[in-house]
Amino acid sequence: MTRHFLKDSDLSPKEQAEVLDLAIKLKKDRFSAKPFAGPQTVAVIFDKTSTRTRVSFATGIADLGGVPLIIDSGVSQMGAKESISDTAKVFERQVAQIVWRTYAHSGLEEMAANSRVPVINSLSDDWHPCQLLADLLTIREKFGKTQGLKLAYIGDANNNMGNSYLVACATAGMSVSIAAPKGFWPKESVIAEARAIAESMGQRVELFEDPAQAVQGADVVATDTWVSMGMESEKEARVKLFSGYTVDEALMEKAAPGAVFLHCLPAYRGYEVSSEVIDGPRSLVWDEAENRLHAQKALMLWLSDK
Ligand code: CP
Ligand code: NVA
Repeated sequence: MTRHFLKDSDLSPKEQAEVLDLAIKLKKDRFSAKPFAGPQTVAVIFDKTSTRTRVSFATGIADLGGVPLIIDSGVSQMGAKESISDTAKVFERQVAQIVWRTYAHSGLEEMAANSRVPVINSLSDDWHPCQLLADLLTIREKFGKTQGLKLAYIGDANNNMGNSYLVACATAGMSVSIAAPKGFWPKESVIAEARAIAESMGQRVELFEDPAQAVQGADVVATDTWVSMGMESEKEARVKLFSGYTVDEALMEKAAPGAVFLHCLPAYRGYEVSSEVIDGPRSLVWDEAENRLHAQKALMLWLSDK
């Protein structure tokens, strides 16, 4: 059975740790693995805009001995003229892996169901699991471990990052607390899945409306934009709804001593995070952005061997 990486729970705790171990090795010795020697191509498809995902996958595929085949929405037949399943059947005979950033998560499931080569989700409306591998690598570099640490996620928790933080951090043996207005909590099914994983490792998942409660004892404080791609028409209403959820110095002071700040970027200073925090000494956002490269290379290498 071909392995795919569509959501955070597609890796067991042991497998996630294997991928992160590989990422640490590849970061030390960047050109040491060539699973795509040939060179083989890896398709990287974008239905939404991107900076980090585009650069890190293109660079990572080249580092691994392959050639990235970047396909922007609108330039292939997929979607309007040809089904996802027919597209998958064409790709699987030529490319080594398929990386896809899209809207509905169901599209990725259809692609994977029709592909004998690994399909990787580089962001859907529901999950951003590659980002979480990079975040966990950054946390491991800072604290030497993930097990037993606590992450607090503040802001829009009913989006891809909220879901991925809950499930990926639980898988890494962390406690996760979320603060969001009640209408922006993750779906019950996602909370239940994360809680079951966390509790099996002696950790907790907690939800609050008050950011100050969520950050108590947190080693890592994270946030994301209040207006995800595809939600632009709701911007004005969302900015009002999320006022009071900005991660600023006063909130960071309430977290554990030595707490660090993460943000997947792009960031909107003055909205979900203050300039003082994101540009200040607790912020690890540039390491986090670089770690997309190392974590995704590790993932592609790991999948190439399955
Ligand atoms: N964090 C992230 O996925 O960034 P891009 O949207 O720039 O790829
Ligand atoms: N939640 C954001 C993440 C961007 C990397 C979005 O989907 O736009």
